[in-house]
Amino acid sequence: MTSPLSFSSAASVLDLAPVVPVVVLRDAADAVPLARALVAGGLPAIEVTLRTPAALDAIREIADAVPEAVVGAGTVITPEQVTRCTEAGARFLVSPGWTEALLAAMRASGTPFLPGVSTASEVVALLERGVREMKFFPAQAAGGTAYLGSLAGPLPQARFCPTGGIGPDNAADYLALPNVGCVGGSWMVPGDAVAARDWERIEELARAASRLRDAGGTCR
Ligand code: 3PG
Repeated sequence: MTSPLSFSSAASVLDLAPVVPVVVLRDAADAVPLARALVAGGLPAIEVTLRTPAALDAIREIADAVPEAVVGAGTVITPEQVTRCTEAGARFLVSPGWTEALLAAMRASGTPFLPGVSTASEVVALLERGVREMKFFPAQAAGGTAYLGSLAGPLPQARFCPTGGIGPDNAADYLALPNVGCVGGSWMVPGDAVAARDWERIEELARAASRLRDAGGTCR
């Protein structure tokens, strides 16, 4: 059994693991076996998105039963959700965007968070507010590695978790950028594998994803 991953509120979400699975769960009963498969495959940081009614229960179950995982909440878009997620045991919070109210609630929660951006102006606005770590979303549609890499020149103090359209074919290219700490994506948690409760397949996909940083990218 792996020991619990140490992760304090002062730590960076971006340094937990190179790849963060983005999980959509319809049945909270799948949460624990899924989390165990991801951890066994080498991906201990897990983002459960609030896109299904089962999400909060799934976060609670993983937080209670899989201490070797660091479970976070994704698609957090209101201050109320910040409260509900942290009460359920979420240890990091991710949003596709941000507002002043959301930022204030995330900051007040004391839980590490990644607000979402897709333009240089949004990055500047967050830097102005003291936030240096962000989700870049939707990564591929918003300009991909060419866009994100271009931000490193004028805005080197900002670091990102790009998400959206990332998979085994382009993850290493993102990971090779100097301003990328980790990438997020759902490719290692295919809906059909979850529906079939094929945890072995998910573990294998996670294992391959966990090795992507070593694969090296082509656009450094
Ligand atoms: C997210 O919520 O961050 C994205 O929808 C995940 O993107 P993907 O499904 O394209 O990996």
